[in-house]
Amino acid sequence: MCGIVGYAGSAPAGPILLEGLQKLEYRGYDSAGIAVVSEDGVLQLKKTKGRLAALSELTDGGKCFSGCLGIGHTRWATHGEPNDVNSHPHLSEDGRVAVVHNGIIENYVEIKEFLQGEGVHFRSDTDTEVVAQLIEYYFRRSGDLLDAVFKVLHRIEGAYALGIICADDPDKFIAARKDAPLLLGYGEDCCFCASDATAILRHTRCVSYMDDGEVAVISRGGATVYDSMLRPVNKERHIIDWDVSSAEKGGYEHFMLKEIMEQPEAVRKTISPRIRDGRICFDGLSLTVDYIRSVQRICIVACGSSYHVGVVGKYNLEHLLHIPVEPCLASEFRYSDPVVGPNTLVIIISQSGETLDTMKALGKAKSLGAHTLAIVNVVGSSIARDADDVLYTWAGPEIAVATTKAYSTQLVLLDMLGVWLADMRGSISREEYGELMHALDRLPEQMQTVLDNTEDIKFLASRCFNHESVFFIGRNLDYALGMEGSLKLKEISYIHSEAYAGGELKHGTISLIVDGTLVIALGTYDPLFDKTMSNVVEVLSRGADVLALTTECNAEEMKKTVDKVLSVPDAHRILQPSLAVLPLQLFAYYVALQRGCDIDKPRNLAKSVTVE
Ligand code: AGP
Repeated sequence: MCGIVGYAGSAPAGPILLEGLQKLEYRGYDSAGIAVVSEDGVLQLKKTKGRLAALSELTDGGKCFSGCLGIGHTRWATHGEPNDVNSHPHLSEDGRVAVVHNGIIENYVEIKEFLQGEGVHFRSDTDTEVVAQLIEYYFRRSGDLLDAVFKVLHRIEGAYALGIICADDPDKFIAARKDAPLLLGYGEDCCFCASDATAILRHTRCVSYMDDGEVAVISRGGATVYDSMLRPVNKERHIIDWDVSSAEKGGYEHFMLKEIMEQPEAVRKTISPRIRDGRICFDGLSLTVDYIRSVQRICIVACGSSYHVGVVGKYNLEHLLHIPVEPCLASEFRYSDPVVGPNTLVIIISQSGETLDTMKALGKAKSLGAHTLAIVNVVGSSIARDADDVLYTWAGPEIAVATTKAYSTQLVLLDMLGVWLADMRGSISREEYGELMHALDRLPEQMQTVLDNTEDIKFLASRCFNHESVFFIGRNLDYALGMEGSLKLKEISYIHSEAYAGGELKHGTISLIVDGTLVIALGTYDPLFDKTMSNVVEVLSRGADVLALTTECNAEEMKKTVDKVLSVPDAHRILQPSLAVLPLQLFAYYVALQRGCDIDKPRNLAKSVTVE
């Protein structure tokens, strides 16, 4: 979703802002722009629809600007089509104030009507322009930029991360945050704001995370942060501990392929530090044994692939804990009346830790008295800071929009959490605990084996890439897995695809199976392999072109019925999806590659969905 970067320093701002925007490209965008103000108060603005290459050409690589203070933006359109005019930054009518914004101003129509009544003329169809115009309106009356911004913030409703510059105040810019990510970066003789750390990592690792309601006044010398009552706030500084190269392609054609290949190592980093003397240990959690024993129900709340992790979690945690476990879409949970209370453990899953619906669902769960535990990848993100407890996946930066290593690390961490809770509750046998510890130990190596043998997957992708509709079928954990396989395929290859529980086929969907329909049959959940085989036979007899994924121990059986068979090593049933998801990710990747799709930046999608 939209990316923001702001800079105040002693070097020309244009190239630094452009480079920062390039690092934010992965978030997803359709247009981009930069505004720079010079020391003598000249505000220059350049913006354009399309990729950053177009902005770079328009601005001579950012060198056309004179000035060492400015703001930049990549826009993911919400209000108004993606075009030059609707791109950010937006100017006030007199051209003295420029604003970049991530989020949605919900009451923009009312404010626009008010300003139009005051004689203000608008240029764009966006919600954001009201912010620039309203700042000018108040600034004209008080001559104080900070005061004008505060008045605006008290008047607007919705979500925002804002960057604001003013030609009449050329030594500083203002950043503000509510329900959208924004951090401050402290460099040598310079200071930044950015949607995420990747944008500024070349210049500094020292950051602080802005909280909701905070406003920062940023100059070359540093930042002064205020709360919503204009009281100064002391911000804790954090040092980012991953380096720039982890956010670069490192010789791979796409970030997605690089991140797929990084999974064994990422999963190892998630598992290893949490195993001591053959037992799972989660240090620093506030959950007590008494509380864990009192939990009557678990809700797993998330969006997209993180939600799919929750669906796997339902099967695995119910198996381990013998209590109801409900996966909930965050966008539904937040607007429903969930039966949640102090005896409900709410597990929130989010790679970015900034997904707005998930953040709001977390708030709802807390307000209902539940204990909230977040599984998050991005350290210091909003969800990580708001939840009662947090477990980090430590997958490193994930750049490709289609998640792979975040999904895998979330999955294994949720499994480990389930085993740990089961141990506390006494609901897992010593024997199964031991088997699982052994299986966890082997998992990264088994994942590596799958990733070392991609030829069959590549070949099958080359045989299947021109299908326009695909059905994933499976039962239990394979159904949950199919959801993720299907999402991976549709988001990067644009092939219509659906995941169905095998047993549901006969209740409607089988009417869509005709000669040549591609069905991806998942038969990796051993206890229901035979049932899945029956579904395979049903679709084959209606002419389906079946590609099957199973485990090594069932591969020969599957090959008696199906020509196209992929297999993964056998593992403990709880960890089997961690292996089985890998061929599905690679299949989606190679299909998209054959179709010539923009794999890392699929159309209409954003990495971090910070609006609802
Ligand atoms: C999956 O490939 C997508 N990127 C998407 O479904 C993603 O999982 C979802 O938007 C949730 O994001 P989060 O984990 O950052 O909250």
